[in-house]
Amino acid sequence: MTQVLLGTKNPGKTAEALDILSGLPGIRWRTHADCPFSDVEETGSTFLENALLKAATIDGETGLPVLSEDAGLEVPALGGEPGVRSARYSGEPVDYARNNALLLERLSGVADRKARFVAVAALWLPDGQAFVCTGVLRGRIADSSRGTGGFGYDPLFVPSGATKTLAEMTLAGKNEISHRRRAIGRMRTLLADLVASGDLAGG
Ligand code: IMP
Repeated sequence: MTQVLLGTKNPGKTAEALDILSGLPGIRWRTHADCPFSDVEETGSTFLENALLKAATIDGETGLPVLSEDAGLEVPALGGEPGVRSARYSGEPVDYARNNALLLERLSGVADRKARFVAVAALWLPDGQAFVCTGVLRGRIADSSRGTGGFGYDPLFVPSGATKTLAEMTLAGKNEISHRRRAIGRMRTLLADLVASGDLAGG
């Protein structure tokens, strides 16, 4: 069994990742709860940079293979904002309601309300091999907040082909289609290949 550490402190993300990744033979999953690591400052200018930065830094601290993820919302009519600033779009401390209010304000009178969520999952191995998978969920920004489920921009995001916002869906319904599910689901396929080839165990 090779140990792989999930590089997130967020219990919700940890539970979702473990659900997607469970049952992979040859891997014993470790989490922040049983293998603590320091905070990593997200200084990158893309989701890709931040996901790799987190995975490489936590690998450096723990010596374990690390799977990290970075995600956010992109609105083309706003030049890709909020992008990597999704969490702190309206400033510190992180406040989802204030972020959503700012997004609606910036989009007021804007006809093009297309948006997408992007998640990048990065796997960093102690011998320096790195692997990346991306997941995207396309949709549009609603005219006002709807629903109480999920987190972040979910009350404003209507997936393509849907009428409900993500916050009006069940958690299971959201998680079936989410950008995070797609990125980590793709990573699952890659991990199975790395186990089979012996690369994950290294040596
Ligand atoms: P994180 O770095 O993956 O925690 O995501 C950064 C920010 O992007 C979050 O604080 C949210 O504002 C936003 N975000 C990422 N994924 C989602 C999602 O699935 N729903 C709503 N907002 C999200």
